[in-house]
Amino acid sequence: MCGIVGYIGNKNCVPILINGLKRLEYRGYDSAGIGIILNNHSEVIKNKGKVSLLEEKIEKMNLQAALGIGHTRWATHGVPNEINAHPHYNKSKNLFVIHNGIIENYQILKTGLEKFGYEFVSQTDSEVLPHLIDSFLVKGHSLFKSVQLALAEVEGTYGIAVIYQGEPDKIVVARKGSPLVVGIGEQENFVASDVSAILAHTKQIVYLEDGEVVEVCKDRFTAKTIMDKEIEKEIHEITMSLDEINKGGYPHFMLKEIMEQSSSVCNSMRGRLLLNEGTSKLGGLENVIDQLVNSKRIIISACGTSWHAGLVGEYMFEQFARIPTEVEYASEFRYRNPIVNKDDTIFFISQSGETADTLAALREAKIRGALVLGICNVVGSSIARESLSGVYTHAGPEIGVASTKAFTSQLVVLALITLLIARKKDMSLVDGKSIAEEMQKIPDKISAILKLNDQIEKIASEFKDVKNFLYLGRGYNFPVALEGALKLKEISYIHAEGYPAAEMKHGPIALIDENMPVVFIAPKDSTYEKIISNIQEIKARKGRIIAIASESDDNIDKLVDYSIKIPDTIRMLMPILTVIPLQLLAYHIAVKKGLNVDQPRNLAKSVTVE
Ligand code: M6R
Repeated sequence: MCGIVGYIGNKNCVPILINGLKRLEYRGYDSAGIGIILNNHSEVIKNKGKVSLLEEKIEKMNLQAALGIGHTRWATHGVPNEINAHPHYNKSKNLFVIHNGIIENYQILKTGLEKFGYEFVSQTDSEVLPHLIDSFLVKGHSLFKSVQLALAEVEGTYGIAVIYQGEPDKIVVARKGSPLVVGIGEQENFVASDVSAILAHTKQIVYLEDGEVVEVCKDRFTAKTIMDKEIEKEIHEITMSLDEINKGGYPHFMLKEIMEQSSSVCNSMRGRLLLNEGTSKLGGLENVIDQLVNSKRIIISACGTSWHAGLVGEYMFEQFARIPTEVEYASEFRYRNPIVNKDDTIFFISQSGETADTLAALREAKIRGALVLGICNVVGSSIARESLSGVYTHAGPEIGVASTKAFTSQLVVLALITLLIARKKDMSLVDGKSIAEEMQKIPDKISAILKLNDQIEKIASEFKDVKNFLYLGRGYNFPVALEGALKLKEISYIHAEGYPAAEMKHGPIALIDENMPVVFIAPKDSTYEKIISNIQEIKARKGRIIAIASESDDNIDKLVDYSIKIPDTIRMLMPILTVIPLQLLAYHIAVKKGLNVDQPRNLAKSVTVE
């Protein structure tokens, strides 16, 4: 959501902070700010809007400092404006705090602080932090101790970075529920909410856990818990390169990520598909495989696009692994006292691995004793670390807010897990081999679909000004209808709904007229004839139809206005193919409307608040 970056060393921190903030903009971007300290001087500069506006403002000031923190904000409490932007500060303006997360008891804390004369200028929950820390500093505590004492009073979630003119040789950072890392350099250290902000400077990373407070100086760092227990932290070497998070010549990250899918799904399968044995090898599940295979029930919990992947997973698990499966929004799961048994397995799916609702649902499931497994893209993310075991999707960094390649990789991983369980149960070698062989052909089939980009762009021109869209699919392609609709609405702001095609006659058909485009996902599978009947029902009511159809289907062209022909595969893998034209359609419509596809309004890549 919001982004944090900080620097301490011998260089001028200002360009380091600005470049870090630019890399973090995709997380949240309604305002930005930096706070810097140099000897006896401290300065805070904030601006509403993009980091480039902040940069323009700073350029005129010729600032130099070797210690600083920066923040991009995505508003939760208080409108996006300069006052509400971070850093927030104490009355003397010599203590700066940046904060990701939500302070749930901020009203109580604020009222208490006001009684002691502390004055608040912003509408944010975050502003209690500098005043609260200040209230301990004035009693003679060190900055580190003051942060510990302040956080002991805080309820809610936070990733924070704090600097103080009285101790200009350190940044104090802490985490609870909002990611934070320390980057280790030579006579310089960094802090960030996301490694992408500091990757240009270091690949040596220390991940903070919940409840940890770290003092970061230019040549060392020390970690303790809030309750002052010393902790040994491990330094991890990360392998992600800067090139991987650049646009690679594409106009938008979203298009780059769509176009990468033939290689990203390949990476998800690499070394995991055992063709001769007709199964898969998933290192992360080896230690729990018996428990997984013998589960009485599987629950899949996630949000947004990852939840749609979970729905496809339900079809896969029930058809082949023969384990009853339920899929539930993490935000609902965490609050409804769910029935969870010790012989249940719960998969939490998340691209970022930081989604607050999914993480909270995971913690709830752990308390209830189920086997808790993660399917995450971001290595070392909170969900990945807090799951008992799991599988990384290895789709590579996904920067565009609209999830694309992460989704297809999630489907690949779900298929690999299905194969693994099914073969340990009653799936024959022959059937296992035929699924594995089909999986291996998927990357080439994706490449063929991506070649339809120009055709899809032309179709997008026809539909860019419509106000509503309906997406219909059946079976494995019903979740794809939901995902196609989500892609369109989140980046083009066109209202779109996904439905199981047969449900149309129970209500949505009333919406159909010549102004309502309907996208049918209609590959030649066992429900094809039924879908054709639905297509005819729409045609009879003058609806305009775009069909995602099999390349072998010559019949469909006379029934629909536009057809996008894609290669066939087996039903369980079809969503990996059918979703791609829908991603491209949404992308081109949004671009033609002149919208910011990578950073759609009101959205953030990683939703780390409830
Ligand atoms: O990082 P996660 O997979 O946990 O994120 C879940 C959703 O926030 C995410 O899929 C969201 O719906 C995307 N904007 C969809 O494109």
